Amino acid sequence: MESVRGRRIVLGVSGGIAAYKSVEVCRRLVDAGAHVSTILTEDAHRFIGPVTLSALSSEPVHTSLWDDTSPIPHTRLGQNADLIVVAPATARVLAAYAMGLSHDLLIATLIATRAQVVVCPAMHTEMWEHPSVQDNVALLRSRGVIVVEPQSGRLAGGDVGTGRLADVDSILNAIDNALSGRTRDLEGLSVVVSAGGTREPIDAVRVLANRSSGKQGYAIAEQALARGAQVTLVTTVDRVTLPGITRVDVETAQQMFDAMTAQAEHADIVVMSAAVADFRPFVAAAGKIKKEGGVPEIVLEPTPDILAALGASKRKGQTLVGFAAETSNLVDNAKGKLARKNLDLIVANDVSAEGVGFSHDTNAVTILAADGSCRQVGLSSKHAIATEVLDSVVKVRSAP
Ligand code: PMT
Repeated sequence: MESVRGRRIVLGVSGGIAAYKSVEVCRRLVDAGAHVSTILTEDAHRFIGPVTLSALSSEPVHTSLWDDTSPIPHTRLGQNADLIVVAPATARVLAAYAMGLSHDLLIATLIATRAQVVVCPAMHTEMWEHPSVQDNVALLRSRGVIVVEPQSGRLAGGDVGTGRLADVDSILNAIDNALSGRTRDLEGLSVVVSAGGTREPIDAVRVLANRSSGKQGYAIAEQALARGAQVTLVTTVDRVTLPGITRVDVETAQQMFDAMTAQAEHADIVVMSAAVADFRPFVAAAGKIKKEGGVPEIVLEPTPDILAALGASKRKGQTLVGFAAETSNLVDNAKGKLARKNLDLIVANDVSAEGVGFSHDTNAVTILAADGSCRQVGLSSKHAIATEVLDSVVKVRSAP
């Protein structure tokens, strides 16, 4: 977070239950050396008190177009900002910002700025998925606004779904990206990422599967998109996919093999973060195997090794990144895969460690390069891991 030191950041907080998380965003930014001015909308007051944010911000909280001592409060904050982040951003704030309705201090500030803006939507799933909200988000994105996608999980009122404010690490990571100029460093490059776990049919209803949620692969695809790449995501998982990412849905290792080898022909960077089954049933029964027939014997056969095939056909100038999911001898096992599969980088995660690997929102990795260099990244959000992976890719590609 070196990038935020000494920078002027406006933190906009709008009226949603996730407003309490803005306190942590504010604190972490101030701790990292930023000057933080906070704007609280009228609705935000229903969820969080201005005293809390005044105590943590670098100056008293701003709440209205009319209370500020400045003669031009609607432009002062925006003009002086290096970056504006709105967390949480409600459907209403996104709509007002997209339409340029400067009815309050927050929207006026967003319109009166040339600084980079980061919005972090948070709302119920039905609202997030509504075409009006998605259209507004797409419009803002097309104007250069960085959107930190909401996550899935428990929402207010006990509902579960997509719409929860992104975790604080992801928000800080997006701010860090924007301020450190990483924003467009993959411009003009084509990136193919695989995500999720393959499912191998046993019969008409049963599959051999694994616990991959696709979160790590999606985070890499989203980061690559944010950094200007043309992104294709080959996925087994149906998660909200950012407009701008080309998604190819697959289910089995063979389908992922076909999609990845076809996509990789034109790709500059290929990242295999999917968890591919190593074995599949030799024969999948056409119908449902009946219980009455007794315990079935399922004979397995190996699946094609996609990464090894990609390594064998790697073009000059193409960067190939593999993952290694290990439970012991992390570095040695990963080094073996790096060499055997002709990779440029391998991202090794010890999936037996707490909060690491399958399904978690966090991960911890060791990134090993073919030149022998090694970088350890401690427990962080999967977005932060994605940033580190892509930083390593950029480093490898710029090496003489
Ligand atoms: O999806 P999440 O819930 O976010 O979890 C993330 C993750 C744990 C799935 C991810 O971080 C990860 O480790 N992905 C790789 C999982 C894996 O299959 O590792 P492996 O060590 O078995 O395989 C090594 C590499 O070969 C991987 O890049 C894998 O994609 C690839 N492989 C494996 C088998 C196969 N038949 N073909 C392959 O291409």
